[in-house]
Parts: sequence; structure tokens; C-alpha cells
Amino acid sequence: MSEKITDFKRFAQITDTRWYPRYHLAAPSGWCNDPNGFCFHNGQYHCFYQYYPYGAEWGLMHWGHAVSDDLAYWKHLPIALKPDKPYDADGCYSGCAVEFDKKLYLMYTGNLKCESGHIQTQCLAKSDDGVHFTKSENNPIIRAEVSGEIHCGDFRDPKIWEHDGKFYAVIGSRTPDKNFGQVLLYESEDMEHWNFKSIAARSERNLGRMWECPNFAEIDGYDVLIFSPMELDTADEKFFNDRQAGVLIGKLDYETGKFEHGDFQTLDEGFDFYAPQVTKTPDGRTILIGWLDTWHVDMPESVDGWAGQMTVPRELHVRDGKIFSTPVKELENLRKWQEVSYENLFLTEPTALKDVEGDACEIVLNVDAKRSEKFAIAVRVGDDEQTCLIYDATTETFTLDCDESGESPKSVREFSVKPTDKVKLDIFIDRSSLEIFINDGAKVISSRIYPQRKSQKIVFMPLTDSLAIDSVSCHKLDFGLPHPHVKDTEVNLKNQFPFLE
Ligand code: FRU
Repeated sequence: MSEKITDFKRFAQITDTRWYPRYHLAAPSGWCNDPNGFCFHNGQYHCFYQYYPYGAEWGLMHWGHAVSDDLAYWKHLPIALKPDKPYDADGCYSGCAVEFDKKLYLMYTGNLKCESGHIQTQCLAKSDDGVHFTKSENNPIIRAEVSGEIHCGDFRDPKIWEHDGKFYAVIGSRTPDKNFGQVLLYESEDMEHWNFKSIAARSERNLGRMWECPNFAEIDGYDVLIFSPMELDTADEKFFNDRQAGVLIGKLDYETGKFEHGDFQTLDEGFDFYAPQVTKTPDGRTILIGWLDTWHVDMPESVDGWAGQMTVPRELHVRDGKIFSTPVKELENLRKWQEVSYENLFLTEPTALKDVEGDACEIVLNVDAKRSEKFAIAVRVGDDEQTCLIYDATTETFTLDCDESGESPKSVREFSVKPTDKVKLDIFIDRSSLEIFINDGAKVISSRIYPQRKSQKIVFMPLTDSLAIDSVSCHKLDFGLPHPHVKDTEVNLKNQFPFLE
């Protein structure tokens, strides 16, 4: 068994909050990756996450836990799962939450190291109060040995949904030769007993050698499989990261368990976006939250005692066979100050607008693209640093330039857009992140950036003759989660974060 940790005094301590998010969900300290168990239960949204509380690097995985009444303001709850059983001793990996029989059930992957790699199985935990979880005595409840077509070391991240009175689960996997990612489908009547049904979908040609974190949702009459393929071939121009989350849109045949689908579509064009999860709201919307980071990149915040944050919650739609994501309307609850807005600006030189600036704000911008052939908007601008979004109507491309963003610059990412007469941008800026929703969510680009705290300016730049802005508004956004205290003496984390134990 790996290290055994029970002492809260060893929790990571935050030493500087310069990059700690103001309204994006993050762990109170330490490391977080994938969102887990995203659900609505007993009047609240729950978001769990992969959590290593003892350091700002990936380690022995626990499940952190936060709740929100409105998807805008979050509260931390005690750690929900610890790797304390023989079947999950090397980590409680990603999984889901589902309400059944008035209880909240978690299904997660128990990870065990062995000589040849890992053994991964699916395990259950349940809770009456939505806070304290008891692991099932029948764990592990799903093992990979049902089919010779499954690699049992890569068999993880279950996500359950209900259909016609039955439970279904998708589980991420790969073929035994490790060459093709795939999603497995299981079914159950009672949550404890699960039968293997099918390999619902598998990588064809180049779509990753392992599929992680599958999710399934019915959106606007379509079945949508959301997943995070890894080991993508980046020589193929379609993929810019070797892991990239996206969707297949199609139809699941519940009789055969086969998923017929169209081409893979990415959910985000950015440098940092992975392992998203979805849930349904009580009014039927499908909401996604993702990890606003990815693997094997620099995370400069780790020197400050934390690492990793989530995206804002996003609403998903399918229009004309394409996936759209927009920020949830509840984020407007964070607009606690009078907005600053301007209309009908015709700029012929780089311009900063009074009170349109910040390091925790939302900018809503409508541009008349017919009179703005090429323009840029630079955010988090300061001495020698800026992050730039450039639009070029002649090539129908957007470019995010993070070359001068601050610490750990990320280079440039370019992607094409369908030409439109109006360009509409909804930009969420936080202490170390940027999320840009383009043309009502037709494209999204997200990145972590690490500017200095004082770099808060925003500059609008015509790059040919002019930039014609129909309207622009700036909303300063409130603190959406508890802000950590920084102490330079020895910190007693039990006082600082009483909710942790
Ligand atoms: C995805 C992932 C999952 C796994 C978890 C471990 O980012 O690799 O497949 O369950 O992270 O932390």
C-alpha cells in the first residue's frame, strides 16, 4: 500500500494568492484535477474533484467536495473519499454521482498498482446526508475480466445515467494491445449489480489510444458521448494537444448497446481543458464543468501551495449537428457591481476604455466584423506582458497569443471560425485563467495564464484600418468561493479550513 495519510496538519499550505481564482472552483489548497460526481442533489449542485491535499502535485488521489446553490457561489465540504481500502489503496480515481433511493451514490475507480502497471475496478460509496460516504461491502462491483477486448489496467472513470427505469454506465478503456481507445457500456437495475453490455464506441483511425472520462447525455434530441481521448497523434493537424476533450454526436441503440455517431468535435480550442463532466439541471439543461488544465504542462501556481482549477460551468447545445457551449446564466449572480458599458465605438488606434479592465471580470463584446477586418483584444496587459486574441476576417481565423502572458508563456493557438458579420465574444478573466466564448458558444478557447497581479489593463486594437464595436460591457465579478488566508507563521490548517476534516 502507498503512503498512509491521516494528519490534516500535513495539508498543503497556500503561501501566495496571486493566481488563486476568485470565482472558478479550485481546491482549498493542494492539487486538483478532473471534476468528479458533478450532480444536482437535494437542492444543491455537488462537484467533487480528484484531490491531493498534501501537496501541489498529483499524488495519492482523494475526492475533494464542494457544493453550490446556484453554480456561481461554491462552498467547500469535507473530503468525500480517501484511498483507505485494499481495492483503492493507490487512489480513488475519477467517477460520478447519482441520486437513487433518496441516497447519493458515488461510483469511482479503485486504482491498485501491480508489477505490470495498474489494476482498475469500479467501486461504490453511498451517503444519506450528501456529505459523509460509506464504501460498499461488495466493492469492487465491476471488474474488467468480462471480455478479452478490455485492458484491465486501463478501465476507469464510470459515469451513470438512467434511461427507461434502468441504470447505464459508460467506462473509459482501451484494447489489450493499447492501440485503440474505447467506451464500454454496462447496465444495472439496482446500482450494485452490473452487467457488461457492449463496446459502445471505439477509436477508428486516429482518435486516441485510450479514452478517459466518458460522459453521456441527451442534448436537444441527440445522444452525445463526451470523452477525453489521450495519446492522440498531434502530427495530425486536427489535434494540437495529445489529449483533447470532445464529443461524438449520434444515437445510442439501447438494445444492441452500439453508438452510431458522426465525427469527433473538440469542446475547447485552448491550451488547458480536459476531463469535463456533465449533469442535468432541474430545468433540463445539460451543464458541463471541466478541468481548466491539462497533463504534463507547467503549473507555476504550485510554488504557492495549490495547483489546478475548474472551468466555469457551461451549458451545452447541439445545433445543426454541432456542439455549442455557453457560460451558464447563473454566473450573472457574480455581477455585484454596476456594469461599465460603451456603444458604437469606431477605433482607429489601440484604445483602453475607462473602467474596462480587471483580473476577475467578464467582458461582453459585439464587433461589426464588416468594418473590422483584423483586430485584437489584449487582456491582463501590464509592463511587458499581455494575452491577445486576434481575429482575422480575411483568413477566417482566431488566434490566441499567450507568448507574452507572463510566467510560463504558452505560445500561439490558431483555429478557424465560420464567417459572420458580427463577432460576439464573452470573455471570462480570472486571476490565472482566460475563457473566451465566441459567437454564442460556436467555439470556446480556454487557457491558464500567469501574469503579474497588477497587469489588469484591456486594450482594443484595430490591426488594419478600424475596429467597429457595436457594444462592450465590463462586469467585475464577485468572490465565488472562499479565498484562502496566507500566513507566514506555521499554519494550523484545521483552523484555517475547518471543513476539511
Ligand atoms: C484524467 C485521469 C482519469 C483518472 C484520473 C486520475 O485526467 O487520468 O482517467 O481517473 O485522471 O487522477
